[in-house]
Amino acid sequence: MEKIILKDIPDLDKIDVYISNGGYSALKKVLTGMKPDEVIEEVKNSGLRGRGGACFSTGMKWGFMPKGNEKPKFLCCNGDESEPGSFKDREIFEKNPHQFIEGSLIAAYAMGIQAVYVYIRGEYWKWINIMEECVADAYRKGLIGKNILGSDFSVEMYVHKGAGAYICGEESSLMNSLEGKRGYPRVKPPFPAAVGVWGYPTTINNIETLANVPEIINKGSKWFSSIGDPKHPGTLLYGVSGHVNKPGVYELPTGTPLMTIINDYCGGIRNGKDFKMIIPGGSSMPPLTKEESLTMKMDAESLKAVGSAIGTAGIMVMDEDTDIVHVLQRITKFYYHESCGQCTPCREGCGWMLKVLNRIMDGTGRHSDLDLLISVAENIEGNTICALGDAAAWPVKWTVRKFRKEFEAKIKDENIELPVLNKVHGLRKSDEYVTIDSDENTIVESLIGKVQEITADENIKRYSS
Ligand SMILES: Cc1cc2nc3c(=O)[nH]c(=O)nc-3n(C[C@H](O)[C@H](O)[C@H](O)COP(=O)(O)O)c2cc1C
Ligand code: SF4
Repeated sequence: MEKIILKDIPDLDKIDVYISNGGYSALKKVLTGMKPDEVIEEVKNSGLRGRGGACFSTGMKWGFMPKGNEKPKFLCCNGDESEPGSFKDREIFEKNPHQFIEGSLIAAYAMGIQAVYVYIRGEYWKWINIMEECVADAYRKGLIGKNILGSDFSVEMYVHKGAGAYICGEESSLMNSLEGKRGYPRVKPPFPAAVGVWGYPTTINNIETLANVPEIINKGSKWFSSIGDPKHPGTLLYGVSGHVNKPGVYELPTGTPLMTIINDYCGGIRNGKDFKMIIPGGSSMPPLTKEESLTMKMDAESLKAVGSAIGTAGIMVMDEDTDIVHVLQRITKFYYHESCGQCTPCREGCGWMLKVLNRIMDGTGRHSDLDLLISVAENIEGNTICALGDAAAWPVKWTVRKFRKEFEAKIKDENIELPVLNKVHGLRKSDEYVTIDSDENTIVESLIGKVQEITADENIKRYSS
C-alpha cells in the first residue's frame, strides 16, 4: 500500500531530496492558488482526525481560530511524545521532517498564524538537533520567514525544547511550559483558539497530524478520505512494542486488523508463544483481551465499540507469560510520578491506586482491593482538570475488570477482609496502614494483617503530628 508519510525514498530527510520528490509543492499550491478558508475546507472534507490521541477533526479545529489579523495567532506542534508505548512522531522527525514542516506552514497559512512552535521533549536531543537543522535549511531556501516563495505570507518557526515531562504534552500545559511557566494544565474554557499562548489564539496539533496535510492538498480530500476506515480515514503510524518478533513503526491504513499488524508485519509473537493482553493506543488506553484482539480493527470507531480507544496507535503486546498485575503496577507508577499534583482526585488517587497495587504484588492484598481499585479509578475519571487523570484511571479500571482472575491469583485467602468498603477515606504517607472506611466517629484502619478501630479525634491527631 502507498505510504503517506514514511515513504520508501532514501535520504528523504534532506531538503534537496524532499524537494526533488515533489516536496513543498503543496505549500506552493496553497500560496499561489488557494484562499485560507479553502485550505481549511479541504482538510475538513478529508476527514483527517488528530493523531495526538483525542482524534478530533483537524479541519474543524482550524475553523475555530478567529479570522482576521488584529491579534497575533500561534501554532504549537506537539512533539512531546511521552506516552509509554508511543514512538511514532520521532520517526517522522527522523525520516520525513520536511513533510511535517510543510504541513505546519500550510496550517499557518490557513489560520493566519504568525509563529509556529515545534515543542519537543527535552530528552529527545537527537530529534531536536535534526529539527533545528531542518528548520534552518527551510529558512535558507526561503520556505520559512518573510514573503515565502514571493507571496504576502510570512511566518517564523522555532524549535522549543521541553524540560522532560509527560504532562507537557497536554496542550494547555504545553502552552504554559512554552511561556516559561510550570507545566500545569489550564482549566478549559477558555479554549486555546480563544485564549492560548500569551493569551492569544492558538492551535495545537500533533506532528503526525500535520505531516498528513501536504498530501491532502496535493492529492485532494477525496483521495485521503477513501483510505482506510471512512469515519477515521488515512493511514496511522502504528508503533508496535512488546513481545513480537519485529517491533517497530508500521504505516498502514486505519481499520487494519490488529492480527494482520502483529502476524504479517511484526512476525508474530516471540518464541512461538500465545498472547493474553494488548494495549492498543499507548499505555493509557483500556487494554484488549485476546478474544477482543482477534477480531479488532485498528480505528477510532472499532476500538470505541469495545470501550477502548485508538489513542496514539502505540500497540503494546503481552505474551501468555506476562504478569498483568506487575504491568498495571508499573503503568500506575508512571502516572503517579507524572501527575502534576494540581487536582486532588489525580494527585491522591494515583498514589492510592499504586499503594493498593503494591500490596497486591507484595502478597498482602485483599479480595476487596479489586473493587477498591475500580472505585478509586472511577472517582478520578472525569473529575480532573486534564485527561491525565483519565489516563491513569482507565488502565486500572479496565485491567482489573478484564483480567480479574490474574489479580485474584495473587491474593491469599487468609488475608484480612475489611467489614465495609464504602469509600476510601485517606491514606497515610507511610506504607504502614491505610484508612479504608469512616463514619462520623470511627475510622476503620487496616494495619497490614490487622484491623483496628480508632476515633476520629485520634486520627486527626495522628495526621497533624
Ligand atoms: C497527559 C497528556 C499528555 C499528552 N501528550 C501528548 C503528546 O505528547 N503529543 C500529542 O500530540 N498530544 C498529546 N496529548 C494530547 C494533546 O493535549 C492534544 O490533544 C493534541 O496535541 C492535539 O493535536 P491533534 O488534534 O493533532 O491530535 C496529551 C494529552 C494529555 C492529557
Ligand atoms: S489531572 Fe492530574 S495532571 Fe491533570 S491537572 Fe489534574 S493533577 Fe495535574
